[in-house]
Amino acid sequence: MGKTTNLLAGCLVAGLALSSCTAHDAGSTSIDADQALAYCDTQIRRTLLQVKNDSCLLPRSITTNGQEWSMVNAYDWTSGFWPGILWYDYENTGDEAIKQEAMHYTECLVALLSPHHQGDHDLGFQFLCSFVHAWRLTGNERYKQAALDGAAKLAGFYNPTVGTICSWQHMREQMGWPHNTIMDNMMNLELLFWAARNGGDMAYYDMAESHARVTMENQFRDDYTNYHVAVYDTIDGHFIKGVTNQGLNDESCWARGQAWAIYGYTMVYRETGNKEYLRFAERVADVYLAALPADHVPYWDFDAPGIPDEPKDASAAAITASGLLELSQLEDDKEKGRTYFQAAEQMLATLSAEPYKADGYKPSFLLHSTGNYPAGYEIDAAINYADYYYIEALTRYKDIREKNK
Ligand code: GLY
Repeated sequence: MGKTTNLLAGCLVAGLALSSCTAHDAGSTSIDADQALAYCDTQIRRTLLQVKNDSCLLPRSITTNGQEWSMVNAYDWTSGFWPGILWYDYENTGDEAIKQEAMHYTECLVALLSPHHQGDHDLGFQFLCSFVHAWRLTGNERYKQAALDGAAKLAGFYNPTVGTICSWQHMREQMGWPHNTIMDNMMNLELLFWAARNGGDMAYYDMAESHARVTMENQFRDDYTNYHVAVYDTIDGHFIKGVTNQGLNDESCWARGQAWAIYGYTMVYRETGNKEYLRFAERVADVYLAALPADHVPYWDFDAPGIPDEPKDASAAAITASGLLELSQLEDDKEKGRTYFQAAEQMLATLSAEPYKADGYKPSFLLHSTGNYPAGYEIDAAINYADYYYIEALTRYKDIREKNK
């Protein structure tokens, strides 16, 4: 990614006034987490009025000019985010009515365990956001068992020859990618780590660690940006090529892909305690931060040709803010920890105000996310995963502030 590399080099070499290069050093911008979480609660109630909980359809996204959620069933890759949003809201408000809604929508995802449903790497998103939160907040062993069953199903896609999970079964033939691993899959390793710590097969830990290592070794360029998709050979496991599915082109830096990597490697460091992953998370975070526009929210691809007139991706900002908040707390370098905390704080401040705040327009939390630009799908939309990582980041931010009082 030439542009990002040049930007980073320019900042480092010239030691320019960093405000022209980075978005994270302008000093701290404290935000009112209680107020922002209260806003989330209000928007959730607006959504509940719109979607009714008498079915297992879940809100996914709202078009640029629309006000109504488009709904999906449990098999959609985003199905976990709505129950996850409700669980975070219950955690923050203690409201029993919200808990009932969270339980209802979580239960809908039992369908994913049917032997008739093959599933893919997204089982991680689906089970972490629903059943793992449900178990964490209620202690109900049924939820724990469902999450363990989801982890077992996810582990079934692990290929020991390659050392990673095959993310998309359907792309093996469709695209001629015999074994494919996408960067988003880094997020789903968390379900395997969680299961290994909570009564599941200990082999899940090794699978998750291997996936993180093989991905680190093959799916990143020299400048620490990544390929969305890595294609591997199934006979001897060698890396064939890096390509894109949702980015501008094979060599570009798709913003959400970089966000998944920041969050993912931070989580892998938390789970393994291996400093190699901490140093790696720093590098993938630093290249992202160096390339951000002044408002801390990336365009959908850092190399998009029409910047500054390209669509933004608020979901990448929300994912990154949440990941950086965790990274800031795990840091062994205090100065870096402060930098990541302040960067996350500024991202949250931006997302919590116009033009990103949906208040008055739609019942989502955020506007201006981009789902799949090359497919022409969910461009400049409100999307449930942007909202999920926003409320998670606010919850993390509040916890950190309270811990440090
Ligand atoms: N995991 C699919 C996406 O990020 O769009």
